[in-house]
Amino acid sequence: MNYREQLEILQQKKQLRKLRTMQPLIDGYVILNEEKKLNLSSNDYLGLGTNEDLKREFQQLLNSHPEWHCYTASSSRMLSGNNELYEQVENALSIHYGKSALFFNSGYHANIGILPAITTKNDLILSDKLVHASLIDGIKLSSAKHVRYRHNDYDHLRKILKENRGRFDRVFIVTESIFSMDGDRCDLVELINIKHQFNVQLYVDEAHAVGAVGTKGLGICEELGVVDEVDLIIGTMGKALSSVGAFVICNESVKQWLINKARPFIYTTAMPPINLAWSLFIINKIPFCNIERQNLKTLWRNLGESLNAEGFNVNAESHIIPVVIGDNETTVKLSEHLLKKGFVVMPIRPPTVQVGTSRLRISLSASINWQDIKLLGLEIRNFTKSLG
Ligand SMILES: Cc1ncc(COP(=O)(O)O)c(C=O)c1O
Repeated sequence: MNYREQLEILQQKKQLRKLRTMQPLIDGYVILNEEKKLNLSSNDYLGLGTNEDLKREFQQLLNSHPEWHCYTASSSRMLSGNNELYEQVENALSIHYGKSALFFNSGYHANIGILPAITTKNDLILSDKLVHASLIDGIKLSSAKHVRYRHNDYDHLRKILKENRGRFDRVFIVTESIFSMDGDRCDLVELINIKHQFNVQLYVDEAHAVGAVGTKGLGICEELGVVDEVDLIIGTMGKALSSVGAFVICNESVKQWLINKARPFIYTTAMPPINLAWSLFIINKIPFCNIERQNLKTLWRNLGESLNAEGFNVNAESHIIPVVIGDNETTVKLSEHLLKKGFVVMPIRPPTVQVGTSRLRISLSASINWQDIKLLGLEIRNFTKSLG
């Protein structure tokens, strides 16, 4: 393959990805190219990542724990990297959820490790058509048979199950609770009905819900009181929980199985203790972040209403609000236009989303002021009108 030529093709299709350097400030702002912009492409949903009070409090805690001042684990968890902080983090999660917890280096590691570890060639994985790339990659690495059902279409899922359930030992339904690029939610109650009807297992990735949703901020499973009904819940630390890493909530025998079989758990250097210490600190804060969760909810409801008033017909079911534009070129131009107006809203294009559904993915943070985004809908409307 000629990389240069292929990159040129990507450029022509307006699909070339480039890195931008940004420096976070407070209240949802960043410095980009030496200018202050409002960041609407971050997953710091509660604004904890830039909360100076929290940083100060953590700093004080660090002063009394010199053993946490360690910036590498120097080994995998299986060897000598299993710092006692891992146990504390997993215990804290386990107490929150009332089930066992196992920590991974990232959500990507978790999804590509767990799915191959828990399935065999005699199993079937049924995944929602729009699940995240890490889930798709995990499914590809597993030896199970795989079929996708149409997005949130449970009649379709039932049909596939009726035709196939008898042919497989076990069946796993894989979904996100809040979809990363669409911001809509799966219907967990319906999925649990299906689970019981067909005797299948549920694997729910709550990457975008953990921290941001739930009475205790533990996600949609917690909000609906169905943690015990879901076999595996994935939570990530890098989004609302403003840290790094991920976890799975499951029963103890699945946890022990993963310790033995999940390759991205076994064959990688463990988390540095300093990151685990921050994760533990944040995990203990999460149940008490109701004000942030309420602010976030008010913000996405307001923005949803304002975008709909401008005629965009957005689905505003969460803090992730997609404005689907369609083609790559217009989406990129709109994103560039918004940047000039002071908003960072990255264009999302294929292969992340389906061809013809390129979009602006607006992701909100509780630290943003409504006044700062009040006119965003109008700005997008004016731009699209100017195109005719
Ligand atoms: C649904 C979902 N799962 C997993 C991940 C990966 O998590 P991490 O960033 O911790 O690797 C993401 C990241 O965007 C995601 O959206």
